[in-house]
This record gives sequence, C-alpha cells and structure tokens, in this order.
Amino acid sequence: MGDQKTGSGGKRLKRQSVESLCYQKKPSLHFWFQFLLLLCLLVFILCFYLFNLTLSWQEKFLLHRQQWFFNKSNQVNVSAYKVHPKHKAVIPEIYKTTGPPTVHPEGIQYHQAYPRNYRFIIDNPETCQKETPFLVLMVPVEPSNVQAWDAIRQTWGNESLVQGQLVATLFMLGRSGEDDSEKLKQENLQHHDLIQSDFMDTYVNLTIKTMVIMDWLTTRCRNATYTMKVDSDMFLNIDNLVIMLKKAEIPTKEYLTGNIMWNIPVIRSKDSKWYVPEEMFPDSKYPTYTMGMGYIFSNDLPEKFVEVSKMIKPFNIEDAYIGMCMKKLELELTPPPNPSQFKTYNTKYNRCEYSQIITYILGSPQELVNYWTDLKKPGPHC
Ligand SMILES: *[C@@H]1O[C@H](CO)[C@@H](O)[C@H](O)[C@H]1NC(C)=O
Ligand SMILES: *[C@@H]1O[C@H](CO)[C@@H](O)[C@H](O)[C@H]1NC(C)=O
Ligand SMILES: *[C@@H]1O[C@H](CO)[C@@H](O)[C@H](O)[C@H]1NC(C)=O
Repeated sequence: MGDQKTGSGGKRLKRQSVESLCYQKKPSLHFWFQFLLLLCLLVFILCFYLFNLTLSWQEKFLLHRQQWFFNKSNQVNVSAYKVHPKHKAVIPEIYKTTGPPTVHPEGIQYHQAYPRNYRFIIDNPETCQKETPFLVLMVPVEPSNVQAWDAIRQTWGNESLVQGQLVATLFMLGRSGEDDSEKLKQENLQHHDLIQSDFMDTYVNLTIKTMVIMDWLTTRCRNATYTMKVDSDMFLNIDNLVIMLKKAEIPTKEYLTGNIMWNIPVIRSKDSKWYVPEEMFPDSKYPTYTMGMGYIFSNDLPEKFVEVSKMIKPFNIEDAYIGMCMKKLELELTPPPNPSQFKTYNTKYNRCEYSQIITYILGSPQELVNYWTDLKKPGPHC
C-alpha cells in the first residue's frame, strides 16, 4: 500500500512534476512559439524579397541574352545571307547619329532616289540589244555576297529560254567600302550579268538601288515586256511565272503585281529596322505596295517611276517607295491571278508545293540549289 501510496504518490508526484514542468515550461514555449513565428515571418519576407529580386534579375538576364542573341543573329544575317533583306534588323547608323538624311537646306536630297544622280561603273548594255527579252529578272545583291549569285546562276538565273520566252537575269549592286572593282570586273567578264552603279550600297540606300534598276531598264532595256525585281534569297519557279505572264488577261502596260500589302503602318520605333522618321515619311500608313522580295511590272513603268521619283521625298523602304510612285502616278496595283503562288516563308521543302508556287523566301543559297535540283528531277511532282 505504502508502495502503492508511494507509488500513487510517486505517480502524482511525477504527474505533478510533469504538470509543474509543463506549467513552468509554458511561458518559455510560448516565447519560442512567438519567436519561431516571427522568424518564419522574417524568413518569409526575406524570401519574398529575394525571390522578387532574383526574378527581376533573371528577367533582366534573359532579356539581355535575348538582345544579345538578336544582335548576334542580326550580325549573322547581315553578313551571311540568312534572311530576306527586308527582315534584316539593321538600325541605320544615320538615324542614330545625324538624324534623317533628307534634311538638306537646298532640298537636293529630295532627288536622292532619282537614279540619274548616279552612274554605272559596270554595265551590260548589250543584254537587250541583240534580242529583246520577254522577261528581265533584276536581282539586287550585296557586293560581298558572291555565294548567293552563284546559287542563282546555277538555278533560276540560268534559264534563258522559259516556256518559249527569252529571259535575262542581271545582278545589281552599288559600291562597297572595299576596293573590289577588279574582282567584280573579272566576275562580269566571266558571266556578263553584273550592273554596278556608283552609289554607296547600304541598307538605307536600297531605294536608290531599286531606282537605279528602273533607270537601267529605261535606258538599256525599254523593249522588254516585263521585269521582276527579285531578291537574292528567293526561290523562283520561273516556269510558273512565265506561264502566269503569258495569260491573255495580264496587261502589258501599267501593270504591277506581287504580294500586295494594304494599309501597312509606318514603324516609328527606333529599334526597328523598318524605322522611318516622320520627317522622311509623314503619313502614318504606307500606300498600297507589293512586297519587295519579288514584284513584277510591265516594262513601261520604269520610265514613269524614274520621272516621278524627282517629286517624291525618298525613304528607305524600297517597296513602299514604289507603292508611293504608283500612287503619285495614280495607277492601281493588280493582284496576281493566283495570289497564293506568292509565298513568303517556307517551313519545309515540298516537291509538290514547289512545283505550283512562284516565290518563296529561303534561308540559304544551299537551300536554293538543293530544292531546285530536286524539283528538276524527272518524275511526277505530286
Ligand atoms: C546552265 O545551264 C547549262 C545548260 O543549259 C549548263 O551547261 C551550265 O553549266 C549551267 N550553268 C551553271 C552555272 O550551272
Ligand atoms: C547612300 O548613297 C549616297 C550616294 O552614294 C551616299 O552619299 C550616302 O552616304 C549613302 N547613304 C548611306 C546611309 O549609306
Ligand atoms: C525598241 O523597239 C523600237 C520599235 O519597236 C525600235 O525602234 C528600237 O530600236 C527598239 N530598241 C531596242 C533597244 O531594241
């Protein structure tokens, strides 16, 4: 019993001591609990703050990387013929430093795009003299981009008789910074397909290049029926183009067709390569124009473009500039008989599709050679 008592007493004691312990511990536990709660709160705030910081840092990092990537890819595009010239992001130096080039006290720059300010250094005036081509392919090229010319010479540029019609292909370029005149002369001696004018060949000067093409057509090839201005990174199904142009409903005068663009807003963001300052082009939208990658016109138009260019303030978007010429001449653009033949970006080569289209923008000269070679293989296309 005593034991029991003691036992129970002991138990009570124990319980008591536990209780008292608990009782004694209560305030300190409470304290710890509060402390932990506070600590958690602090840690939470700290984490939240740090997380936010890291996030914005990460974002900044990513943005930076993206910009770097863009700059990187732009550099690649400019030098290595990757993307259609219209899609090269070149911010013209001239806008960054000196403002738009049209501001000139005597207004002489109004005539900047007027091609007779420039003269031909390399010429092939005989191209259209012996025989009059039905179609002239005018390919603006970069002075350094010989790879692209060679791919064209092996493919659609090597076709001189298409569907029974004479076709001539010429490359147009301006002056580069380097002295490449000997090299170019040799190149022309070999192929007889270069035309070089003495303007500075830069991205901002693309409109001059187009107008120099118009001048050449007016003075050297007036009797040809049609011309296509076609960029050097294009796949051109030349057979389908000639088939289209031979259609009875296609006019031989005052005709301009291609990928028609309506109501395109002028880009005012200085970061864009299509940036055009208001001083250069005040309207917020461009007149209707055909996309520069490849447009086709009857050969009476070049002369009209050259004349009207005296009265049009130049801006660097060459295709929209031609749209502006058409507007000033009060002429309408004509949609092609089958607009879906004028494709822009290709994702994958498809023999059947390429046998039906007229244009596609390509990624490299090698693609052009590969696709062309495959398309010309005998056998059914579809
Ligand atoms: C162009 O085609 C002819 C055959 O019509 C061929 O002999 C010539 O090698 C071709 N030129 C190029 C640069 O591939
Ligand atoms: C455009 O070409 C003209 C004539 O060669 C030249 O004076 C001018 O510097 C060029 N502009 C740019 C931005 O390259
Ligand atoms: C263009 O055609 C006209 C008349 O048809 C002719 O007199 C002229 O010599 C031709 N021009 C060229 C460069 O062939």
